[in-house]
Formats: sequence, C-alpha cells, structure tokens
Amino acid sequence: MNANEDLTRLESRLVQYGVGRDAGTGAISFPIYPSATYRHPAVGESTGFDYTRSGNPTRQVLEEALADLEGGSRGLVFASGMAALTTLFLHFSSGDHLLVSQDLYGGTYRVLDQVFGKLGVTASYVDTTDAPTVAAAIQPATRAMLVETPGNPLMGVADLQALGDLCRQRELLFIVDNTFLTPVLQRPMEFGADLVVYSATKYFGGHNDLCAGALVARTPALGERLYFLQNSAGAILPPQDCWLLLRSLKTLALRLEQHGRNALEVALWLQHHPRVRAVYYPGLPEHPGHRLALQQSGGFGGMLSFRVDSPERARQVLKKLRLISFAESLGGVESLMTLPAVQTHADIPEAERLRLGICESLLRLSVGIENPQDIIADLAQALEGEDKG
Ligand SMILES: Cc1ncc(COP(=O)(O)O)c(C=O)c1O
Repeated sequence: MNANEDLTRLESRLVQYGVGRDAGTGAISFPIYPSATYRHPAVGESTGFDYTRSGNPTRQVLEEALADLEGGSRGLVFASGMAALTTLFLHFSSGDHLLVSQDLYGGTYRVLDQVFGKLGVTASYVDTTDAPTVAAAIQPATRAMLVETPGNPLMGVADLQALGDLCRQRELLFIVDNTFLTPVLQRPMEFGADLVVYSATKYFGGHNDLCAGALVARTPALGERLYFLQNSAGAILPPQDCWLLLRSLKTLALRLEQHGRNALEVALWLQHHPRVRAVYYPGLPEHPGHRLALQQSGGFGGMLSFRVDSPERARQVLKKLRLISFAESLGGVESLMTLPAVQTHADIPEAERLRLGICESLLRLSVGIENPQDIIADLAQALEGEDKG
C-alpha cells in the first residue's frame, strides 16, 4: 500500500515515502536494490525493471517522492547537481540561447561557459531580481530561463511569479534551481516553473555525506524527454545513495526549521558586529528581497553571506574558526564557511565577480543546526582582532 496517497501534509509525506512499498516484505525502510540487471519473465516481457541505468526500484521510490514533493509529474535523480544540470543542458541544441541568473553557482557558469558554449549553446547572465531587465535581455534564440533564488552568494530574491508570467508569454522554458530552499520552503511550480533543479548534495542530503542531483519536470512530456536524456547520458544516482537520500528526506522539514531559526539569529548578531560591513540574508527586514521572500517562500533558509572590513579579515576568520568548518558546500547539519571569490565562484572572471560584489571580503556561511549560541561564539572569537577597516 502506498500510505502517501492519504497524506496531505508535507512533513508526514516526507517521513512516509517508501514505507511499506516493498510489498513482499513490508519493510519500513525501503530496501537498497543493488542488482545491475533483472530477469525477463519471457521475450518481450518485463517486471518493469530491466537494467539499473534505465530503472531501479530504490531510485524509483526516491524519484516519485521528489515529483510528489514538488508538485511535478516526474522526478529524476543524478550522480550530482552538476550531472543533473548537464543532462538538462543536453536538451538544448546549437544556436539556442539561455537567460541565467548572474548571482549563481559558479559550477553552473563553468559548464555553460566552457562546455556548452563550445557546442553552440550560449547564455547571458542577468539580474533576475529585476524582471524588466530580464524581459529586455530576451533574444529571438532564447529558449529558457534558469533562475537561482535566493541567489548565490548574494542572496538576491527573484520574483518567481513575474518571471513565470514572462516565460509563459514568451514561450520560454522556466527552470528554477531551488537548492537553497527545497520544496519545504519554496515550490517554484506554483509560480509556473516547468522544471526544478537541485543539488541534492545540499539540504536534501543534509549531512555532508553524499553527492546527488535532481530534476523535477512539471509535464509528462518534459519528464519523458529528460528521462530519455538521463538514460542516454547515464549519470544516474546509485541505489545506495538513493536509499541514503530517502532516509535524509525524513528529517528535511525538521532540519530546515532549525537551519532557518539559527540563520536568523546569526544574521541579527552579525549585523551589529563592528567588523561586519554588510549582511545578506532575506530573513532580515532590511534585505531588499525580504517582502518578496515572505510572499513566495515559507521561510528564508539557512544560507547567508556577510562582508567583513577587509580581505585580510576574511582570511583571518577562516583561519581562526573552530566549530564552523572552512569548507565548500552547504545545506548540511554542520556549519560551513567559504570564501566564494576563491572557491565556489573562482571560475567567474574577476571583473565580472567584482562587478557583482563577490570580492575577497565576502564570506558565505551555511548555518548548521548546532546550538546558535555556539555558532555565534565561534564567529565572535574568529572576528576578534585589530581594526583593519
Ligand atoms: C545552487 C547550486 N546548484 C547546483 C550545484 C551543483 O551541485 P553538485 O555540487 O551536487 O554537483 C551547487 C553546488 O554547490 C549549488 O550550490
């Protein structure tokens, strides 16, 4: 029996995905099916599973869960967020043009610029927090818009409804990278998104112990096309990691609640620190996207960035951290800090980075679920030192 059909509340569905789905055993924890291949009952017949790249029972439960969470028709999971994005970009042909958020993950920029650019798929990077600017950037060859909101690392908030309307009017595929908020806090399809992308390495996985990606398509036709590309290119998520991700989903809502509570407390504290010049967190009432975030999201998430008084100070902070780890990635229970200009966004040309405000004084913090007072105490001792402003 699929208990999920009776469950309408997100927190319950997250816990129950896969429970009792393994009919033969009634397993509460859906099993890992490592089999690479499956017996055919007869010529021309299939159990529904033939070969693990094309379909796997553990993966199927996870993919159905993600489609359900997002309100889409089909979910597909991949070996990483970049594998999901690369498979998605294979949908486009030479001559196609994409509009992409300028405040986005550097790896997405890298694959578009250095891989797909050579294949004739071009991209323009625009301020997607400003819908008229986006409208003006549409070209005759534009086929799609890819938006990250909140942006990375500057946390700008894009108006999903306005961009969704624009994409519908101009017949563009509307794609949202929802990695920072997950469907617990933001469901882009409610605003017209055709496709939602994830680095599931982040909040979905939530424990900094797996690498995964996902695509969720709104329509069956787009789902079928992306499945074709997933099966053709082959960057699937292995069954062991599908199981781990299913297990992580169970606590996703709980974790995000605590991440958000901690991030707000940390952001409010940072705001008043004499060495901190600016704090970028949509949960702060002063943040330019605060009201919009309130309207379109169920919370502000656990990511924030802040600018300190000098590049030297930023390096000092990273060196002195004790509880918070100086490490890339985000969305796990452990707090992590990075220097985007030299890590996650290093592939963005320097002039463009500086134009966007991604300088070497900007630190990005993925606020974990430790006690917020301990996170603040660590930041306090790391920021201590002579005035370098
Ligand atoms: C918003 C966003 N999208 C996509 C990716 C790529 O995901 P992965 O690292 O799982 O390949 C990342 C990685 O940091 C990300 O932050």
